[in-house]
Amino acid sequence: MPKYHIAYLPGDGIGNDVMDAAKIVLDAIDLDAEYIHGDIGWEFWKTEGNPLPDRTVELLKETNCCLFGAITSKSNEDAEKELIPELRNKGIVYSGAIVTLRQELNLHTNMRYCKAYPGNPLNYRDDIDLVVFRENTEGLYAGVEFRPPSKEVFNALMTHKNMKKFEKISLDDIAVSCRIFTRNACQNIIRQAFEYAKKHNRGSVTLVEKPNVIRETSGMMVQEARRMAMEYPNIELWETNVDAMCMWLVKNPQDYDVLVSSNMFGDIISDLAAQLVGGLGFVASQNIGDNYAVFEPIHGSAPKYAGQYKVNPIAMILSVKLMLDWLGEKQYAKNLDQAVASVIKERKITTYDLGGTNTSLEMAETIVKKYEEL
Ligand code: NAI
Ligand code: MG
Repeated sequence: MPKYHIAYLPGDGIGNDVMDAAKIVLDAIDLDAEYIHGDIGWEFWKTEGNPLPDRTVELLKETNCCLFGAITSKSNEDAEKELIPELRNKGIVYSGAIVTLRQELNLHTNMRYCKAYPGNPLNYRDDIDLVVFRENTEGLYAGVEFRPPSKEVFNALMTHKNMKKFEKISLDDIAVSCRIFTRNACQNIIRQAFEYAKKHNRGSVTLVEKPNVIRETSGMMVQEARRMAMEYPNIELWETNVDAMCMWLVKNPQDYDVLVSSNMFGDIISDLAAQLVGGLGFVASQNIGDNYAVFEPIHGSAPKYAGQYKVNPIAMILSVKLMLDWLGEKQYAKNLDQAVASVIKERKITTYDLGGTNTSLEMAETIVKKYEEL
C-alpha cells in the first residue's frame, strides 16, 4: 500500500496542460504515492448540474491531500444556457467548484508565495519575497448573494438607515452580495500570518483591508490584528488600505514580508504581487485546513490557451513543491525548488510568457533533468 493517496484534479482548460506537466515531475520524483483522478469543472456542471460532484468530495475525504489544476466559471446566465436540456429551468444555480471545495473541507487558510526567482527576466525586482495569507472561506466569497433579493431579505435590510436610498427601487433591479466575517476566521488567518512570520524570521505582517470605509468587517480584522500583534513584540504590524497597498506593491514590493487579508482583497493583491515576480505562471498556492490541503497554481483555466501546452507550468510544479513540504517530504521539496530555480536562471527552455516557444511539457522535462542531476 502506498504511503500517500493524493487526489489529482486537473479541471478545465490549461488546468489539464499544467497537470500533465506536473505528472512528468511526479513520475520522476517517485514519491511513494498513488494519484487518484477526480472529476471537477465545467463539464460536470453542464452534464450533471454540479461542477464538484459528490463523488469527488468523497474521494477527497479518502485521500491525504489534493493537487488541483484550474476550472472555468461563467456568469449565471451563461451557466444556465450551457446546461444539458434535461437540467435547464430546474432552478439549479451554479456555484464555483473551488470556492465550494474550500468551504466543504474547511480549508480556512490560503497561502500564496510571490517570490522572485533570480534571473527571471520578467521579475520587477529580484529581491521580492512575500507571502499572502488570504482568509479562504468567508467574506465576499461566502456565496450569500441575492438577485433579486426576496421580500424578507429586503425588508430585513431596510431596517438599516443607509437603505433609505434603495427604498423605491424594484427588487428586480437590486443585487446583494454579503461580506460576512466571523471573529474566529479573522483570528485564525491573522494568527497563521504571525506564526509564519515568527517561524521564518520575517520582520513585519501587513494587514490589508479598508476599515475607513468597510467599517464593520475590515474593522473587526484590524481590531483582532492589533490585539494579536501584542503577542509578537519582534514583528511589526503594518496596516494598509487595499487600494494604497496596490500602489505600494508596485512602488516598493521588496519592503513587504507577510501580507494578510480577507478573501477577496487577498485574491486581488496576490494577482498583483504575482505579476511582480513573472506573472500567473509562477505563483503557487496552498489551501490549508486542519487535516487536509489542496495545492494549486493561482491562475485560472485561461481558455484561450487550453490544450496547446503553451502556458508556463512552473506555478503548478511549485504547487507540487508546496505539497511535498506539507507532507513533510522536505528534501524532495528542496530539490524540486532548486531544479525550478536553475531552469529559470538558465533561460534555455522558455514558454511563451518568457518570450520562448517551448511547451509546458518540455519545461517540465527540463526541470526533471535538473532534479535528477542534483
Ligand atoms: P486566468 O488566470 O485563467 O488567465 C489570465 C491570463 O493570465 C491568461 O490569459 C494568460 O495570459 C495568463 N496566464 C494564466 N496562467 C498562465 C500560465 N500558467 N502561464 C502563462 N500565462 C498564464 O484568468 P481569467 O482569464 O480571469 O479566467 C479564466 C477562467 O478561469 C475563468 O473561467 C475564471 O473563472 C477561471 N478561474 C479559475 C481559477 C481557479 O480555478 N482557481 C482562478 C482564477 C480564474
Ligand atoms: Mg485569483
